[in-house]
Amino acid sequence: MHQECFHVIEDQADRHWFFRGREAIVRSFLARRGRRLRVLDVGCGKGFFLHDVKAALPNSSVTGIDIARYAIENAMDDIKPFVIVCDCRALPYADHVFDFVLSITTIHNVHYSDCKKALQEIERVGKKHKFVVVDAYRNEEEKERLYKWNLTAQTMMHVDDWKELFKEAGYTGDYYWFIA
Ligand SMILES: C[S@@+](CC[C@H](N)C(=O)[O-])C[C@H]1O[C@@H](n2cnc3c(N)ncnc32)[C@H](O)[C@@H]1O
Repeated sequence: MHQECFHVIEDQADRHWFFRGREAIVRSFLARRGRRLRVLDVGCGKGFFLHDVKAALPNSSVTGIDIARYAIENAMDDIKPFVIVCDCRALPYADHVFDFVLSITTIHNVHYSDCKKALQEIERVGKKHKFVVVDAYRNEEEKERLYKWNLTAQTMMHVDDWKELFKEAGYTGDYYWFIA
């Protein structure tokens, strides 16, 4: 991702409805779970989501990976110790160690066959709770808008094709779409 994009996200993190809404959801989701959670963010960028997790649950253990060295080197100060440069297609963790694995608008940045690999990796390292968001469309209009809007995605598919891929990969987590 272009370095400028990370600055835009950082600038908006405290103000934009998307980030404020996400923080509220994370807080309410995690607050219902009393025990120490292990959370992995695949494609964590500068670690904003993990920062929200830590704020909501200081005892949680957070881990993030991102392929962009720039993002990891410039991650939020409190999160920097917990993030590494790594590819979503090969996660350096043992099987079923994370209570919650999420990956927001990251997986579609690799080719189709590698999306399957990334989903299988999330499935492998996660326990029950997993959540991914990917670029998708439901009709020609949305497809056209997505292709015009796209900067980095290599796999943009109809929602039904994504569901098929989730099945093929054996991915059992939740999912949602980024629709342009
Ligand atoms: C649109 S940003 C989303 C960042 C963050 N998940 C969020 O919701 O704000 C996509 C992220 O995926 C990362 N990324 C792209 N390809 C990747 C790969 N193969 N492995 C790991 N991270 C990747 C990019 O560097 C970027 O930080």
